[in-house]
Amino acid sequence: MTNSKLIIALTKGRILEETLPLFERAGIVPKENLRKSRKLFFDTNIDGVQLMLLRGSDVPTYVEFGSADMGVVGKDLILEHGSEGFYEPLDLGIARCRLMTAVRSDREMVSGRISVATKFTNIAKRYFAERGKQIELIKLNGALELAPALGLADAIVDIVDTGKTLKANGLKPQDLIAEVSSRMIVNKASMKIKHEIINKVLGQLNVVVKSDK
Ligand code: PRP
Repeated sequence: MTNSKLIIALTKGRILEETLPLFERAGIVPKENLRKSRKLFFDTNIDGVQLMLLRGSDVPTYVEFGSADMGVVGKDLILEHGSEGFYEPLDLGIARCRLMTAVRSDREMVSGRISVATKFTNIAKRYFAERGKQIELIKLNGALELAPALGLADAIVDIVDTGKTLKANGLKPQDLIAEVSSRMIVNKASMKIKHEIINKVLGQLNVVVKSDK
């Protein structure tokens, strides 16, 4: 960890649309338009602070291994990855949604062994195991909502925001697994070595987050 810069990994996509305005209000502004560039690294108005764009599922890994000092990532992906490798000092309160089980609208969650399709395999395993329920896990990376209708799975575990995707695919939400929002995570060694700049960034973000409550 010889890099003297502070690298903040941001999650691409929907979360980014809420992250950038929040960062801007906190006084952290990229020097160019992230959405229009194919670059992955961006300088900001703060000397030595750089932003990096990643897929959400890669943010915990980059931060855990110190390739990024800090990251913005959904709680769902933190729960899936495990959070031993980093600190989670701030809930940004953005990109709120729920991690839920869902089944076909014309069915109930049956007892006995069921098949569950999800990309959140660790979360699903843990959730059903804690309830003493045996499941067969089916790992999918997208279009989960099709699985029950096609007979591939009895249930899914997925993110629900408006609920429109479930409804459009003949599904209904069942049980809440976790409330989700985006969090700031910080590499443990970086927190010691770069505490001054990290505390400055967290402090600036915290002011904005508090004013939104
Ligand atoms: C998530 C999730 C659902 C959808 C739910 O996908 O997997 O498909 O959002 O939103 P709704 O309740 O408002 O319909 P996302 O668009 O984040 O992309 P992903 O499939 O890459 O996770």
